[in-house]
Amino acid sequence: MKLCIIGTGYIGLVGATVFSDWGNEVIGVDVDKKKIERIQAGDMPIYEPGLSELVLKNVENKHLRFTTDLEDGVRNSEIIFICVGTPQDHDGSANLSYVYAAAKEIATHINDYKVIVVKSTVPVGTNEQVKRIISENIKKGIEFDVVSNPEFLREGSSVEDMMNTDRTVLGSDSKRALEKMKALYQHLNSPIVECDLRSAELIKYASNSFLATKITFINEISQLCEKTGADVSMVAKGMGLDKRIGPRFLNAGLGYGGSCFPKDVSALYKTSMDYGYHFKILDSVISANEAQKNAYIYKIVHMYGENLTGKTFACLGLSFKDNTDDVRESVAIKVIRALRGMGAKINAYDPKALETGKKELGDSSIEYFTSPYKAVMGVDAICILTEWQEFGSLDLDMVRKSVRWPVIFDGRNKVDSFEALKNGFAYYGIGRKSTSDTTPGVQ
Ligand code: UDX
Repeated sequence: MKLCIIGTGYIGLVGATVFSDWGNEVIGVDVDKKKIERIQAGDMPIYEPGLSELVLKNVENKHLRFTTDLEDGVRNSEIIFICVGTPQDHDGSANLSYVYAAAKEIATHINDYKVIVVKSTVPVGTNEQVKRIISENIKKGIEFDVVSNPEFLREGSSVEDMMNTDRTVLGSDSKRALEKMKALYQHLNSPIVECDLRSAELIKYASNSFLATKITFINEISQLCEKTGADVSMVAKGMGLDKRIGPRFLNAGLGYGGSCFPKDVSALYKTSMDYGYHFKILDSVISANEAQKNAYIYKIVHMYGENLTGKTFACLGLSFKDNTDDVRESVAIKVIRALRGMGAKINAYDPKALETGKKELGDSSIEYFTSPYKAVMGVDAICILTEWQEFGSLDLDMVRKSVRWPVIFDGRNKVDSFEALKNGFAYYGIGRKSTSDTTPGVQ
């Protein structure tokens, strides 16, 4: 099939690439000329495991090409995907201006029947607006249909997720469009949910908000564990073995971040309010997520006081989660800002997000390191802020010899607390017993 993907962010770039790998002829379009030139040169604008190899392969076999020319993309495709960003507005709602601008421009170039698919995450009613905008701007007599096809990719595993999706959601009132879309996804072995536009839109928000709620629930349990002496990892394990609950998204930590959960939870809450319904759980999820990060910062303040001048913290992790260089809404960045705000000096390390982290945080009171072992030299404490796998296998004996004071604030429960104690560290995890036999040199 001939496809056009508008927007080469996470969803668009991964979508275009995987669709081309399935044997379709795909044109990726973006207004950002520099970005398109970078992709054409094989230099990916994002770090995503497996992506660059797949782009190169499909560009080479001519299944995939990139352009800034939207007219070229629209005219040479049967299905056009809108994958542009929907950033959060000041009032918590999703900013739809890029979606609507794309719809209007697509309409001016349509020359025969097309299916326009909205993959961007958009609130209830947006697809109907897209339909209206296209009708108002299309040449008379030319037919089109709109399909809502939300995406459920996780950053860091998005190529894999798209190839092995749990389900495909197709919302439309057109049988003709649905048949075309089903043909596109036919070889996937997962169920297809066919529904109306509004239900499809809501499925995406409900799914992300539910997952954010699940994480928040275990984070709340972690607070209770700290008070009662229970261990949140054990509680999560015991809960997760119940098939009705499931083990995934039950890792307690510093709270959820990223470009999706915070934005989508707020947008669903706002939509709900707009429709006159107070979505009570989401209100609590938003404030509990904020509180989880603050409780972690409080542990540091409790030990060192509110004036951190003269203290250096090794902050391990900048990205909002592992396997990505994305620092948008990263809790790690927020914690670093808070520590810096109290006068601390930061030694920052991240396996992939040093560049993006530096862009976000700048140089003031922060030094960036390319090895965790260099970052911990002479520090007053180590803060583990992102769930990178490698933080669980640090050579603690070596680390112990480098630090000024052996203290670990493990915001992601990556380190074995008994190993930490064995190696002479005071250890503070999330929802587990602190092992603080060592007294750090704190006045
Ligand atoms: C999310 C959804 O999972 C995906 O379906 C949707 O399409 C986009 O939003 P993403 O934001 O890439 O994906 O990452 P995800 O793996 O969901 O993690 C989001 C945040 O939750 C991260 O900050 C992560 O650290 C945190 N998290 C996740 C936890 O704190 N505990 C967990 O158990 C899982």
